This record gives sequence, structure tokens and C-alpha cells, in this order.
Amino acid sequence: MTELQQLDKALVWHPFTPQEGELPDNIIAERGEGTCFITPDGRKIIDAIASWWVNLHGHAHPVIADAIAAQAKKLEHVMFAGFTHEPAVTLAQNLLSQVDASFTKVFYSDNGSTANEVALKLAMQYWYNQGISKPIIVALDGAYHGDTFGAMAVGERSIFTHPFTPYLFEVKFLDFPNGYNDAAVVQQFKELSEQQSVGAFIFEPLIQGASGMRMYQPETLQALLEVAKQNSIITIADEVFTGFYRTGKFLATHHIPHLPDIIALSKGITGGALPLGATLVNQKIYQAFVSADFSKAFLHGHSYTANPLACAAANASFQLLLQADCQQRIRSIAQRHQQFIEKIKKHVALSDCRALGTICAFEIKTQTESGYTNKLRDKILHYFLSKNILLRPLGNIFYLVPPYCITNEELDYIYAEIENFLDQLFVRDVSSK
Ligand SMILES: Cc1ncc(COP(=O)(O)O)c(C=O)c1O
Repeated sequence: MTELQQLDKALVWHPFTPQEGELPDNIIAERGEGTCFITPDGRKIIDAIASWWVNLHGHAHPVIADAIAAQAKKLEHVMFAGFTHEPAVTLAQNLLSQVDASFTKVFYSDNGSTANEVALKLAMQYWYNQGISKPIIVALDGAYHGDTFGAMAVGERSIFTHPFTPYLFEVKFLDFPNGYNDAAVVQQFKELSEQQSVGAFIFEPLIQGASGMRMYQPETLQALLEVAKQNSIITIADEVFTGFYRTGKFLATHHIPHLPDIIALSKGITGGALPLGATLVNQKIYQAFVSADFSKAFLHGHSYTANPLACAAANASFQLLLQADCQQRIRSIAQRHQQFIEKIKKHVALSDCRALGTICAFEIKTQTESGYTNKLRDKILHYFLSKNILLRPLGNIFYLVPPYCITNEELDYIYAEIENFLDQLFVRDVSSK
């Protein structure tokens, strides 16, 4: 263990890390280059999960680094009430250029959780401002929308939220549409909407990331949004994970004809360089806040709202994203994932594997409960790290969410190691019986 690691252990509290027993020797990421981190002793680790799904173009990308540096020399930050700046306005133009004309405003915040907090508060105040009581919020079973209180409230009650359950507002959860029950889930939403005063429906479109890369059908999402429309329910798409082409299109909701009222964005927004959240709203939502009455204003903001460095990084990332070679890489990753899934899907160690755009996931058969706490997690993590591939499994489920700059050679290497891992897992399971 190096001195830095010792100090890290002594002084720093890392997220999602139990503080009991021998704390892990955290790997020092000294530099980044393309898809890789480089440690002080020169080890190159492929970031196959884009560092919690944020990185789009590779680490320490020179175009993004230059944009941040140039902005830092001009203006690093200014409070965002009473002031504005070019990077924030350009970014709003960029984001709104990717959605239909019904979307008219962008509200900035700091991360995915706050982008959702803003979305939820806007939906709630939309009704309040009109003197209408529609207090029920609906979400999907298994949802994850972040770690702040509103975001936790609309997420699955789990080991992550149990200590806070008494403090979370009540939410009605629809069953997850798993391909067998989709019509019943739509019916469940219909009945709920007709019987109760539902004000908003929040969902992760087409894929629930944190709950195990669970995917559902565009037709089902479309049907749910139709129910919402028929019952005047505000719809909030949490595109924090799925935005910026993760699913092959700019937004996952672009796979269906029906757009939501509010879209929450973060993660890939800055290409993974700096924290930033953005909540896009349509004119209908915005209109409810247009009033001379101060109490009807949206009285919400953060010290670093629309930080110019983060907005400059986001604009640079946006330009890179729309370039033909990046679009080509996105298509190519999606195609390669599909081919690999076809090849591996009958593997005896797998209970399921699936892909959507640049995301693919592998679920290992298990005797115990499938999910985050499954003990296979450590085995998967350590095997791939020993091969210099960073994967962070969700229990017995592991997945690839690579930066779009990943090369064919790197992908082939990862696929080959997945096969090796599954083969040896199977051999060991059989021989231990
Ligand atoms: C769908 C979704 N929403 C919200 C969040 C929370 O984002 P953040 O960690 O930036 O607060 C996440 C994070 O994984 C997410 O996947």
C-alpha cells in the first residue's frame, strides 16, 4: 500500500463502501487516457463502465480539457440569479435542439439526483400554482432516481433507503413491466389514475440501470405515457443514465413517439468531466410558473447552478458527440454488443443477457437471490480487475457501458475475458458439486 492509499484510508470516506473490517486499498487513478485509467506504477485499466456511466469520449479528452481551461481563464463562476453567461445559454440551445419544439426551458442544477429533485418539485408546484390537488406520485418498481430525499422517495425501498423510509413521501409503485405482465402494468396504471389524484409519473425510460440493467419495451412505455396523458398526469423521464446516446438515440424516449413533459439529464452531459444537471421542461409546465405572484415562482437554486466550467465542458462534449466518427462508434458498439449477445446467450452460466444501444448486461445464474447483494459481485469485480478491466457488478449482474471512444480491439478483449470468466465459473461450479 502506498502512502497516498494509507492517507486515503485514514481520511477519506468513500461512497457505497461499508466502513467495517479491512477497508479496501483503493486503486489510485493518476492519469486518464482514452478508455483507460493509468495508475502510478503504469497499470492501464480499461474503464468498461464509463466511471458510473458518465464518460462519453474518453478520459482527459483534450478538446474538453481545453474548453474547461479556456473558460477557467475567462470566468470560473458567477451566481445564476440576475446573471447569465454564454456557456449556459449555448448549452440550453444545444440541449433544446435535440427535443421537439414543445420544450422551451432548461433549469440547471448539479447532478442526476438534483436534476430529478427539480423535476419532481416542478411537477408538484405545477399543480399547486393552479390550486389543484393531485398529490399522488407514481414510479416504477425497482426505480433508482438518486440519493437526495425526493429522488430516494420515488425510488425502490431497499437496503439503500431503509434508514430513511419514515422520512420519504408516499409513492405508488407500478410493477416493473417484465415482458410477461406489460398489459397488466398498463391496466394497473389506468386504474390507479382513475381512482386517485395522480399528479406525476416518473420513470427511467426503457432501462433501469441501478436495479440491474432491467429493460422494458418501448410499446409499454408508450402505453403508460398515453394513460398519463388521458389522465392529465405530468410525465418525467429520468434520462440521467440513458441520455446522450447511451441507448443509441440522443434520448431513450426518442425510441417512442410520445415525449414526456419533463426530462432530467446529467451524467454524460459534460462528457464525464464535471458535475452538472439539467432539467428540460415543456411550455405547458413553464406556463404554470409565469405569474406576478412571487409565491408562484420556482424558488429553488444551488450555489453552483449552471457553473460556467461545467457548461463549457458540456458544449465541447456536445460538439464531439454529434461528429460523424462518434456517431459511427455508437452504432458500431451497439452492433458489436448485439453480435456478442447472440454468441454468448446460451452460455450455461448465464440466466440472461441483453443489450440496448451501447449498454449490454449479463446475469449469472445463482442459487441465491439475484441482485445487488449477491455474493458473486466480488468474484466478478476481482476477476476483471485482474485482467485490467473495470466492471462494477450489480451483484450477479455485470454490464458494459463503455465510453464511445472504445476501440474494437478493447471491446474484443473484454468480450473474450467475459467468455473466459463464464467458462471458468461454470467449470468450477460443476467440479465443486
Ligand atoms: C437513472 C438515474 N437517475 C439518477 C441518478 C443519480 O445521479 P447522481 O449520482 O448524479 O446524483 C442515477 C445514478 O446512477 C441514475 O442512474
